[in-house]
Amino acid sequence: MSRPYVIDQMISAKSIAARIEALAHDIHAAFEGTDKLVVVGLLRGSFVFIADLVRELDLPVEVDFIEASSYGDGMESSREVRILKDLRGTIEGRDVLIVEDIVDTGHTLSHVTDYLRSRHPARLKTIALLDKPARREVDFRADWTGFEIPDAFVVGYGIDFAQRNRNLPYIGQVRFTDEA
Ligand code: PRP
Repeated sequence: MSRPYVIDQMISAKSIAARIEALAHDIHAAFEGTDKLVVVGLLRGSFVFIADLVRELDLPVEVDFIEASSYGDGMESSREVRILKDLRGTIEGRDVLIVEDIVDTGHTLSHVTDYLRSRHPARLKTIALLDKPARREVDFRADWTGFEIPDAFVVGYGIDFAQRNRNLPYIGQVRFTDEA
């Protein structure tokens, strides 16, 4: 049975937009002169972030997606990362930016980064909108992070709770109302 909850706003849509503009500036500087940047979104959580990010990038960009699963519909990571859907294009010799919504234990992004690095891209960088360093289980840090957040249960802006709330335009914190 699902528990009742409310969602408190943690990061506004306006703050996210401002942060993405600054991140896009840094990415642009890091990849300046690239003939093509392959921007790889991790499905499904990154779909909102990648859509906003690529529209701020004034670079020749190709968009691709990969799906890795570490979570079911619950809240805990199973630690086992599986590739469910691979890239459509090749990345050998290309500049690549992996886009993730949140780094929690770090297993997913760390695994996907190793997986794609083994295909010998030219430059490979990672960006995560959110980072929860308190939850880290592997030594991994994205090259760019939007916001460091505490160990809270967040939803919105692509991030779900049991496949719901991905469409919220802001990052919210789930608060269960049956807690004392
Ligand atoms: C979530 C999230 C990240 C990952 C982070 O994905 O979108 O990809 O977990 O956790 P980690 O750092 O502990 O590995 P999920 O497997 O829930 O899939 P989704 O993107 O489809 O929601």
